[in-house]
Amino acid sequence: MNNTLLSTHYNPTTGEIIGAPVVKRYLVDLRGCFAGGAAYAVALARGNPLLYSVASVAPADGEGDLHYGLGVIYPGKIGDEYYMTKGHLHAWRPAGEFYFGLRGAGVMLLEDEATGASRLLPLTVNAVVYVPGHTAHRTMNTGAEPLVYLGVYPARAGHDYGVIAERNFRMCVVERDGLPVMIKR
Ligand code: F6R
Ligand code: MN
Repeated sequence: MNNTLLSTHYNPTTGEIIGAPVVKRYLVDLRGCFAGGAAYAVALARGNPLLYSVASVAPADGEGDLHYGLGVIYPGKIGDEYYMTKGHLHAWRPAGEFYFGLRGAGVMLLEDEATGASRLLPLTVNAVVYVPGHTAHRTMNTGAEPLVYLGVYPARAGHDYGVIAERNFRMCVVERDGLPVMIKR
């Protein structure tokens, strides 16, 4: 057990946790995620902005232990699609996850791996979203300021990005009349 991580403070404004490792994802890392391939190519030709970062804390790795991540998705769009995360299933499929909205406004796209059934759920300040096991999840910032959220998941959950990289989500989320709408890819 890592005593230094049993108690930490997160910054809900910047999404920082002092001492926690951070993964940063840039536009180039999201190749294949956006439905609008042409808009993606145009945006990438202009630059390679930072889309989001995640600071992760893994205090202990035993069976039954929990980890958490503090995510920040910056505001922006590629065509009519919001900046989003890559999205994943948990490598250990039964692992569920709680998301807590801390700053800004966004949505989560959930997709049941077995049935493909999709849900679009708001992730706003003080919102709690539960991601059941066996469910692919992707988060989008639909607002004008950074979206900051906390995700809490079993230590053994892991990430499986392979399925999403291969076939993406069935649905995508676009802005229509200023609001996020889920449509078929
Ligand atoms: C952990 C989790 C979050 C995400 C984060 C970034 O299980 O769901 O901490 O890792 O929102 O998204 P991905 O991992 O899809 O790039
Ligand atoms: Mn997850």
